[in-house]
Amino acid sequence: MVTINPDHPDPGDVKRAGEILKKGGLVAFPTETVYGLGGNALDPSASRKIYAAKGRPSDNPLIVHIADLSMIGPITEEFPEKAKTAAGKFWPGPLTMILKKSGLVPMETTGGLDTVAVRFPSDLTAQALIRAAGGYVAAPSANTSGRPSPTTAAHVAEDLGERIDMILDGGPVNIGLESTIVDFTEDVPVVLRPGYVSLEMLREVLGDVRMDKGLISENSSVRPKAPGMKYRHYAPKADLIIVEGEQEDVVRHISELAAKAEQEGKTAGIIASDESRNRYRTGIVKTMGSRAHEETIAHNLYEILREYDQLDVQVIYSEAFHTPRMGQAIMNRLLKAAGHRVINV
Ligand code: TXA
Ligand code: MG
Repeated sequence: MVTINPDHPDPGDVKRAGEILKKGGLVAFPTETVYGLGGNALDPSASRKIYAAKGRPSDNPLIVHIADLSMIGPITEEFPEKAKTAAGKFWPGPLTMILKKSGLVPMETTGGLDTVAVRFPSDLTAQALIRAAGGYVAAPSANTSGRPSPTTAAHVAEDLGERIDMILDGGPVNIGLESTIVDFTEDVPVVLRPGYVSLEMLREVLGDVRMDKGLISENSSVRPKAPGMKYRHYAPKADLIIVEGEQEDVVRHISELAAKAEQEGKTAGIIASDESRNRYRTGIVKTMGSRAHEETIAHNLYEILREYDQLDVQVIYSEAFHTPRMGQAIMNRLLKAAGHRVINV
């Protein structure tokens, strides 16, 4: 583990990390969304190492990280106008674009697909590392497959510690949820994974943008287009159930459920907000932050889920967080963790 100043990454440390990547090794590094597990994106054996370290199915493609717009050309067949517009507005930043890949990108990196996911992160350590590594770094989130994505270097060490060559610790990440993924291979761009960049923000600059049917359909035979979205990403050790409705009703219902669990000899976790936390009398209450600050809620989600896995709770009841801009992304991750178990009150 090497500590990095996020505003001024030490060039010597970055150079060493870049050398490891050039030689085919693995380095975990901060981005503005979550920590990534980096390997050389153009080296098939590095991609295979990434899948092995994470315990990830090899049909689930990796995102190729770049640090300069000029790097797009060599790895793609085309860079459509709408993708250029989105790049102008949201790059560097938490947006990943699906584009037609060129022959330079190995099938190992794209999980056998003829498209490639490309992201230009805004994090300075990430940018410096990508440049030091030669320009193309494949990086999934740096967690063991099936665990919440890491928002601190300690989470990375917990999951992957001995299995990788280096961890750059740039402190806690800024956003805390993975990037928005948008498919630009068809006429109308399609959101494959919601994130910090919302559907509304995309529509403002691109006009018509759709949500992948596999994300919004109740019908499980409609499969999401991003292979990773079909997996039940993370299952907490305890049963997680979301309770939705008017705030008053939600507090009352969760309180009743938690009291009932306690009578049965179970310990309940409760995921609340700053506004509601003091109203619960039973259970282990954790707050996501104030509903007035949705950035904080997004930032705390994965950490809280990890904390509950350390505690001996058998069931977790969570309030819903349909916040104005990031609500789609927050609820997408929370619903997946709950296996879509929702009680409407
Ligand atoms: O914020 C992020 O995107 C983080 C940081 C490290 O950049 N990375 C990340 O990677 O979340 P990962 O591997 O955990 O998620 C990548 C997602 C998966 O759901 C995968 O299926 C999808 O991107 N994906 C990658 N390439 C794709 C492609 N060619 N077509 C459709 N989906 C793709
Ligand atoms: Mg991931």
